[in-house]
Amino acid sequence: MTQRTFVLIKPDAVKRGLVGEILGRYEAKGLGIEKLELRQVTGELADQHYAEHVERDFYPPLREFVTSGPSIAMVLSGDQAIEVVRLLNGATDGRAAAPGTIRGDLALSNRENLVHGSDSEESAAREIALWFGAEQS
Ligand code: CMP
Repeated sequence: MTQRTFVLIKPDAVKRGLVGEILGRYEAKGLGIEKLELRQVTGELADQHYAEHVERDFYPPLREFVTSGPSIAMVLSGDQAIEVVRLLNGATDGRAAAPGTIRGDLALSNRENLVHGSDSEESAAREIALWFGAEQS
């Protein structure tokens, strides 16, 4: 089943010059790039995107981090794209993520973990609408 998913390449990846490397992994897998935009995330957008986490202890530093510099916001598409992106991304904590995944190969942090991918069809629809506008979801 063809799906669309929202992917954010976070500020740590942009600062470290890893955008090409990360984008290349999604492309090499066969996913299509439907939308791609360099975005400076505001605190307000971060609060909406991470609505389920705003009360968590880890949220204030996460908010600081995602607003610390430009990110790349994207919509990727392909067969089972939501799960495929999550497999490519690897476990949330870069220290525990499997080698061969983006985080497993390139991240050493639970917070600065390079990428975000939608975790369900509902999240994908919500996040695509939030970042790119409801009419395009
Ligand atoms: P992401 O997939 O974008 O979803 C929530 C984000 O919160 C996650 O990636 C990490 O960047 C961050 N995060 C999740 N758990 C923790 C944690 N325990 N400590 C710090 N940051 C976290």
